[in-house]
Amino acid sequence: MKQNIYDIPGFFESYQRMRDKQHGLNAVLEQPAILALLPEVQGMSVLDLGCGAGELCRRISALGAKNVIGVDISSKMLELAASDIPAGVSFQHSAMEDLKFPVATFDLVVSSLAFHYVKDLKDLANNIYDWLKPGGFLLFSTEHPVSTCSQGIHHGWIKDSAGKKLYWPLDEYHLEGIRESHWFVKGVIKYHRGISTILNSLLEAGFIIKAVEEPVASEEDEKIWPELKEARRRPPFFIVKVSK
Ligand SMILES: C[S@@+](CC[C@H](N)C(=O)[O-])C[C@H]1O[C@@H](n2cnc3c(N)ncnc32)[C@H](O)[C@@H]1O
Repeated sequence: MKQNIYDIPGFFESYQRMRDKQHGLNAVLEQPAILALLPEVQGMSVLDLGCGAGELCRRISALGAKNVIGVDISSKMLELAASDIPAGVSFQHSAMEDLKFPVATFDLVVSSLAFHYVKDLKDLANNIYDWLKPGGFLLFSTEHPVSTCSQGIHHGWIKDSAGKKLYWPLDEYHLEGIRESHWFVKGVIKYHRGISTILNSLLEAGFIIKAVEEPVASEEDEKIWPELKEARRRPPFFIVKVSK
């Protein structure tokens, strides 16, 4: 099942409020780690899967990519992406699982925090391998398996009676598959996969692993926003760069 949760009223507004936070985890941990791992994009043809409001598409275009296609399942996210589209950037409304491109179309495929919505990562990895030119790169972030594995009452920080975060529970790590959670709204569907499954899906597709990261904030940012230190207790993101 392909869920389009970002178009559900209530979810969309809450998600935007979270993303607007200047020191949110995306802004301070995930995006800097993705940008640091980008190859030299000058002249590249790039595909962004689950592009949301298109910020990464714009960044990559500004860095000199020849063209960037952003794809998203959510029409509300694409409405945000549609304002002021730079030359060379275009957007497509589609589930990434349904895309078809000729073999060897792209130099780089990126995806920021969208692969945990995809049921069949092996299938997607095989498709991306085909769409990339030889020597091309796939760079993506996903919610960390430590974050996606536990369900129900075991999901999220366990706190003491005063609300202090004691620990992040880890359970059912090897029970891979669908997870339904309450994230702004009820019934948000994500897919949990262990680290070995994620990496083996890429290796079996034929990719070569170039970098694997579990980012934490810089010490300077942690001084300004101490809550960012929590990423050292529980990694929120898993980032992988592979090449064809
Ligand atoms: C956490 S947001 C990230 C958006 C953007 N990549 C960013 O970092 O700002 C996840 C995005 O993935 C999109 N998405 C979820 N499932 C998808 C699918 N099967 N195909 C394409 N896009 C999908 C959502 O609509 C949403 O815009």
